[in-house]
Amino acid sequence: MRAAGKGTSALKAGVRRVLARTGFDIVRSTNNRGGVDDFIPFEATMRAARSAGLPVGDYIDEVMNKTPGATAATIDELRGFGVFDAKPEVVLEIGPGSGRYLERTLKECAPGRYEIYETAAPWADYLVRTFGVVARPTAGSSLAPTPDASVDLVQAHKVFNTLTFLATARYFFEMARVTRPGGRIVFDVMTEACLGPDAMRAWATEGGDGHDSYPAAMPRHTCVELFATLGCTLDGSFLAPMGVGSTEVLVFAKGT
Ligand SMILES: C[S@@+](CC[C@H](N)C(=O)[O-])C[C@H]1O[C@@H](n2cnc3c(N)ncnc32)[C@H](O)[C@@H]1O
Repeated sequence: MRAAGKGTSALKAGVRRVLARTGFDIVRSTNNRGGVDDFIPFEATMRAARSAGLPVGDYIDEVMNKTPGATAATIDELRGFGVFDAKPEVVLEIGPGSGRYLERTLKECAPGRYEIYETAAPWADYLVRTFGVVARPTAGSSLAPTPDASVDLVQAHKVFNTLTFLATARYFFEMARVTRPGGRIVFDVMTEACLGPDAMRAWATEGGDGHDSYPAAMPRHTCVELFATLGCTLDGSFLAPMGVGSTEVLVFAKGT
């Protein structure tokens, strides 16, 4: 890899100063493996939410994503699928970011233990401080620190459309491994249901943020077939808004 020269560093510092004056900032996370964990920079987002007088999750929904109520709507759907009925005692979330789903999940089921795998250290630290969750070492696509069949609810929201195909595939196997029999697995992927001609046109003309791996697609059939081989059946699915298009949330149950 080529090291950045002095000129490049000075240019970056200049850009940073200009952005800071306009209220934005570039905050790189400590582990940017997927090239996507700077989607929602910690300090700038917290500052902007404070200025707007909104909780950070609402700020992301309403102002950044222009989808007010989206997080609450997803949690409502999950409640409808009975995901919180058994009062999950151990929850694991991959890529919680600002914690907008995490916070609502805690309100739904008050688990005794909530593990997170999050590559963006500033967000992980904030979630540990604020909600007392347990941050596990996160190295890309493994849940190795979590024992087999130890988790009641495993979830990931708006993560697998930002990761590469291989990272997502590896996480799928890990999610099935750590889920206990009778537990639930919830995640969203950009399936064929989200990729009609209008959506394709919208992504082609308005999509992309300079992140090469976003948005990543994953066939629904592939997920359903794979999880079936891992002992998990699809309870149902629904669409949720994402960027210029939508994403499909899949809800699985692991057989007892
Ligand atoms: C688009 S954000 C979604 C954040 C949050 N789930 C939400 O919907 O607001 C993707 C999140 O996944 C995290 N992430 C990126 N690569 C990851 C990886 N390999 N393992 C775990 N988390 C990752 C990012 O840091 C970021 O917090």
